[in-house]
Amino acid sequence: MWGGRFAAGPAEIMEEINASIAFDRKLAAQDIAGSLAHVAMLARQGVVEAADAEAIAKGLTQVKAEIEAGTFTFSRALEDIHMNVESRLAEIVGPAAGRLHTARSRNDQVAVDFRLWVRDSIDALLLQIAGLQRALATRALDAAGMVMPGFTHLQSAQPVTFGHHLMAYVEMLGRDAGRFADARKRLNECPLGAAALAGTSFPIDREATAKTLGFDRPTANSLDSVADRDFALEALSAAAIAATHLSRFAEEIVLWTTPQFGFVRLSDAFSTGSSIMPQKRNPDAAELVRGKTGRVVGALVGLLTVMKGLPLAYSKDMQEDKEGVFDALQTLSLCLAAMTGMVDDLTPDAGRMKAAAGAGYATATDLADWLVRTLKMPFREAHHVTGRIVALASARGVALEALSLADLQSVEPRIGEDAFGVLGVERSVESRTSYGGTAPANVKRQAQAWLKRLGG
Ligand code: ARG
Repeated sequence: MWGGRFAAGPAEIMEEINASIAFDRKLAAQDIAGSLAHVAMLARQGVVEAADAEAIAKGLTQVKAEIEAGTFTFSRALEDIHMNVESRLAEIVGPAAGRLHTARSRNDQVAVDFRLWVRDSIDALLLQIAGLQRALATRALDAAGMVMPGFTHLQSAQPVTFGHHLMAYVEMLGRDAGRFADARKRLNECPLGAAALAGTSFPIDREATAKTLGFDRPTANSLDSVADRDFALEALSAAAIAATHLSRFAEEIVLWTTPQFGFVRLSDAFSTGSSIMPQKRNPDAAELVRGKTGRVVGALVGLLTVMKGLPLAYSKDMQEDKEGVFDALQTLSLCLAAMTGMVDDLTPDAGRMKAAAGAGYATATDLADWLVRTLKMPFREAHHVTGRIVALASARGVALEALSLADLQSVEPRIGEDAFGVLGVERSVESRTSYGGTAPANVKRQAQAWLKRLGG
């Protein structure tokens, strides 16, 4: 493609390090869509004759069909997807194929292709995120009143409901969707026509190609157009945060499915066995979601590192932008699908969760609140009094409710029989009616609101 200036071909190792066709063939559909938009515009602007443009468009459609049918031969010597497509086009169309690359460079070409690919991926991920949210909210609606221990420091803190816990992830995923949607808005400008870096002297219509390819407008600065990979970095950032959320949930599934917790059970469809220990049921899918998060985060750090020292405009370093993004967004897609599968599959054990919710003096805060409300005690003092009551129960090895009224009164004589009413875990969660709190009525309302928003 640049033979004029060169007498000899590249060294074998030069070809190997330079070629991107092994991975950028993924951009074939986007590359051809970009070329079709470009050549149609060139014809409308009178830069290329209608007959040539028609032949090129026909040829491109044939190349596309060959790639889809798997009959296309990709060549490493032709370096990348852009030159592979164009070279085959020349075989089909003849010398007129050479007019396609007028007023364009591989620099703006790859920038368009990659934006289109990331945009498609974001659209698909947004649907998957909504699907997982729907699965979670549906289960949360069922489990709005199912009591479980809430943790801080992974120590029993206060009772919450299983539905409330699941809805926490619906909120996180809502922010993830917001980040992807926001990244998509900034991504949706078309760099085509920036050419190598300076724009072109041909009378092109960048508004038209932008519109054909579904972009909101053309990019405004030709240097920035070919040098920018923010759209990839933003998609990776959103992906890294989303993967981190899934990883935290995966970690909880790993904990909850242990015999020690026993809060949920995954069916055979989402469990694996051990080749040596017959009793084992391992939550491999959850562990892999947790593990794969490393790759997603790594891709973000990788691309930030590629970009950080590059002078304007394009440098070949930027060819290193693709593999990490392909891998990260596909990995996130797989993780979302696996998590949705597990959420649909899992069976909560309400009895075990409730028993655990009552353990560890989890309603001590409720007793302290009772002292504040009924005896008008300052909270700090109520905290201290309750602490002494917990110490008494702990010394006896019994739950708070198992202490007698006389026991409670030995610490604070004004405590009455009605204090026992707040010591049950169900009463505890029902009382948390503040906005965003764990009361079953709240959880139900939130789950319903989300399901309505998600169209479920
Ligand atoms: N394969 C290249 C990439 O992915 C396409 C752009 C090549 N541009 C160039 N000036 N060599 O970045």
